[in-house]
Amino acid sequence: MTRSAEEVRAEFLSFFEARGHRVVPSGPVFPLDDPTLLFTNAGMNQFKDVFLGTGARDYTRAVDTQKCIRVSGKHNDLEEVGVDTYHHTFFEMLGNWSFGDYFKRDAICWAWELLTEVWGLPKDRLWVSVFAGDDKDGLGADEEAERLWIDEAGIDPSRVLRFDRTDNFWEMGETGPCGPCSEIHIDRGGPDTDPADGADPLIGVNAGNERFIELWNLVFMEFNRVEGGALTPLPAKHVDTGMGFERILSVLQGKNSNYDTDLFTPVFAKLTELTGVPYGATDSQSDIAFRVIADHVRAVSISLADGALPSNTGRGYVVRRLIRRAARFGKQ
Ligand code: ALA
Repeated sequence: MTRSAEEVRAEFLSFFEARGHRVVPSGPVFPLDDPTLLFTNAGMNQFKDVFLGTGARDYTRAVDTQKCIRVSGKHNDLEEVGVDTYHHTFFEMLGNWSFGDYFKRDAICWAWELLTEVWGLPKDRLWVSVFAGDDKDGLGADEEAERLWIDEAGIDPSRVLRFDRTDNFWEMGETGPCGPCSEIHIDRGGPDTDPADGADPLIGVNAGNERFIELWNLVFMEFNRVEGGALTPLPAKHVDTGMGFERILSVLQGKNSNYDTDLFTPVFAKLTELTGVPYGATDSQSDIAFRVIADHVRAVSISLADGALPSNTGRGYVVRRLIRRAARFGKQ
């Protein structure tokens, strides 16, 4: 049975709702009260105050799907969009949170249960990464997460890899809440590929290709990065996770490209109707243009719906640039 986008979204929310999480709405695609961000770049943005200890909610576990745009600042994927099949300017981030409640153990075990038991992903295609530690910040390797993956989730130890801060220490921006993270990656290689390739630094996990893609990031929020770069401990320990909705959907729908899911195919059908050009049957330049336009149309529509109008400054200028960029790809 192939699940639709709507079904996958609902299954994610209800999995965590059944485990005591409050289902909360997405925040707007741009934060109204955070001058450090032009656009919402992660599900945790709307909970930044809870992590910092300056705000509170009347629940300690939350789940949602957050509208995100990554076109500026620390998290910027614009140049990859369209050229590959798994980066977007606008995407949905499925996330579950603990505010001083559960920590690494439940975050790891639930993620594994949802992926392998509920959604039935093959364990011999999944890899996980943990933080290798960082001398500059005076942090050791995350042996606790490593042990939990092996002893509690039961993953084959050869599938747990260590990576440094570039990949496994998540930060919201130059300042703000942060912490070591643990990612789940999938190997989408065909039947003739060597399942051990994931550990190969040249072609495997984090090598930046379409075969090994990151699905889900589990962040163990423990620190605040302050001006000047030092880390101070947060008042409590929290969990912040983010799974790329378009990516997990492509996996569950058996597609090799996010753009072949039911989130994008209606946009492509319309583009073909308007231009007479089919997707996937011509040269790669026109396919890239299809992906850029479909991606940017979603980003612009969501921005407009949330109230960011095209303009000459700030986020309005980003919206304007996305419209121009989509138009340019369309013409060319
Ligand atoms: N905040 C984490 C991320 O964006 C989950 O990857």
